[in-house]
Amino acid sequence: MNGKHILVTGGAGYIGSHTVVALIEQGFIPVIVDDFRNSEQRMIDGIMSITNAKVIVYQQDVSDTSALRSIFKQFDFQGIIHFAADKAVGESVQNPLKYYRNNLGSLIACLELAEEFGVPNFVFSSSCTVYGSPIGSYEVTEETAQQDASSPYGATKQMGERILEDVARSSKTMKVLNLRYFNPVGAHPSGLIGELPLGKPNNLLPYVTQTGSGKQDELTIFGNDYDTPDGTCVRDYIHVVDLAEAHVKGIEWLDLQPVNACEVLNLGTGKGSSVLEIIHTFEKVSGKQLNWKFGPRRAGDVEQIFANAHRAKELLGWETKKSLEQAVSDAWNWEQQQQND
Ligand code: UFG
Repeated sequence: MNGKHILVTGGAGYIGSHTVVALIEQGFIPVIVDDFRNSEQRMIDGIMSITNAKVIVYQQDVSDTSALRSIFKQFDFQGIIHFAADKAVGESVQNPLKYYRNNLGSLIACLELAEEFGVPNFVFSSSCTVYGSPIGSYEVTEETAQQDASSPYGATKQMGERILEDVARSSKTMKVLNLRYFNPVGAHPSGLIGELPLGKPNNLLPYVTQTGSGKQDELTIFGNDYDTPDGTCVRDYIHVVDLAEAHVKGIEWLDLQPVNACEVLNLGTGKGSSVLEIIHTFEKVSGKQLNWKFGPRRAGDVEQIFANAHRAKELLGWETKKSLEQAVSDAWNWEQQQQND
């Protein structure tokens, strides 16, 4: 690659910040655009402490095309990693237009400018939510038939991938990589960056660690009558540092592909874990007993899903290195740092 500047939208967010660290460690120069709607300055401070590098940050809404254009004018971007999006499934059901406007608006703004400035490599932050509730096997490959998305949030990821396919096909300069994340968990082992849930966490692991630290009184397990080994839902939990590395490998791989290439990759460990297993892992690594109870199922939950991640290994030479225990332990370390603040 000639230039090493990579635009990272949403680079102050959870997965974005870990990817920025991984990019810097591989000699890239990330340029973050983030409006901090779901982040804080201390994530940037954390990135700088970990990498000992200065970080270029623009605080602005990614869907503001004219403001974004002025940034494209300043850098010769070799790639874009587009994370910026709203991601609360429940909120998207309550307020679908917010999700369609922001998630699709910011993607379209980035793509218009990528076309205008001839930026060759585009990586999109997609999700296993595009599979909906899989029929047949719970181990999904990239070819597994997609079902209806169970939320407007999920629909924005399906639509986003479709938009990217169309643009990749028609573009004179661009190649596209859609990365479908399974359940990202954990934090940087330094404890300097991690997930910052606003208010009550929606996701399991931050709820577990916040219950462990006393910020939440009690964890409710949503359903224990599923057709799974212990009756609780099964997911593929992937350490966020492993996930971040896949983005760097992804951008390097994409750079070698011909124009119009459009690829989709699952990013997961290939192994499913139940909610109860997560709780037991937490209790083991923290030495604490967690206060939890069984409650009713949560509407829209998929019973079981985990990745077949063979294609990512084949194309990128990437696979996960970190264990679930490491992920839970790093998440717990991060939560304890928050307590000390
Ligand atoms: N869970 C609980 N109690 C909680 C929180 C979660 O039992 O307090 C359970 C859920 O029922 C589920 C599992 O923990 O079985 C994981 O739930 P998360 O909310 O952490 O993750 P999801 O798999 O539901 O959500 C993920 C992504 C979304 C994506 C969705 C769709 O976070 O972005 O997958 O597949 F849309």
